[in-house]
Amino acid sequence: MEFTVNKVISLFNIPDHKIDTSNYSHCLHDNNVSTLESEIAVYVGAKHAVSLNSATSAIYLALLNKSITVKIPSMIPPVVVNAITTSGNKYDFTDNTDWVGDSYELFDFGDYKIIDSAQKLEKNQFKTECKPDDLMIFSFYPTKPLSGFDGGMIVSDDFEKIKYFKEMSLNGMSYAENNWERPHKYHGYKMYMNSIQAEIILKNFSTYDKKTNKISKVRNFYNTEFNQKKTSSHLYTVDVFDRESVIKNLRSKNIYTGIHYHSLHDDPVYALNTKGNYPETEKKSKTTLSIPMHENISMEDAKMVYQEVIKNII
Ligand SMILES: Cc1ncc(COP(=O)(O)O)c(C=O)c1O
Repeated sequence: MEFTVNKVISLFNIPDHKIDTSNYSHCLHDNNVSTLESEIAVYVGAKHAVSLNSATSAIYLALLNKSITVKIPSMIPPVVVNAITTSGNKYDFTDNTDWVGDSYELFDFGDYKIIDSAQKLEKNQFKTECKPDDLMIFSFYPTKPLSGFDGGMIVSDDFEKIKYFKEMSLNGMSYAENNWERPHKYHGYKMYMNSIQAEIILKNFSTYDKKTNKISKVRNFYNTEFNQKKTSSHLYTVDVFDRESVIKNLRSKNIYTGIHYHSLHDDPVYALNTKGNYPETEKKSKTTLSIPMHENISMEDAKMVYQEVIKNII
């Protein structure tokens, strides 16, 4: 059966909000930032949280001056590599392609590990995936599961680590409610989350469970039709032949898709001198296609997407 598609089916849905800046002080870091930290910490089952201006900053601070080699998937957003190198570390690539849309272990120090969960935010996730001293990082970039106007967070049960990140992100000042009472402690960074970012994330968080519930219906439909077992609420990926023409054909029908991700081991900027073997990445990076999955996709939309994609499925 042929469908005629007129409406736009976007890859992600990004909710719009109007903000009243008169609610906030000039220090840009008001009480709603702490409210967001407590709400997310409770949701994921961690004791403490620190909010930042992005997950990139979270990775940067978590790895700062560790002088380590971080092994990351070759199929990853380049910002992760940037955060590793600018914080004074080296990187190497792995052939892991399964992590896309999920969390993955960024580094294991032995006594604690860092989980990069920029693409996943689930109830009790810290309890399920981490030990008390571990660090778990979330992103609130607009397209991420919990959408924001940029933003990131680190959660842990380890108060001392979270306190250090809070101080480092507040220009190196020790934290006090009144910013005149914040003596300088370190040469820090301006990496804190601002009040407007927190307001948008809090608004989206109030409907987060409803959103993920709707997404799970679309995902279940795709899983049945494409015979897959995907679990991500962020990305739904399929493997297709002749990806460029599939993208063009879908675009002509107002269906938007994405590629998550191009490989970095053969990228002119990020390739390393050492030779690695990445057979899975070589294959996937040419065939993977992310198709629309969000809370505003109706079952009819999902069927249209399916009908168009199935013709080229591998
Ligand atoms: C796996 C992963 N880690 C970290 C980041 C960085 O997140 P942010 O955009 O909040 O800096 C991203 C963003 O794309 C990501 O996908």
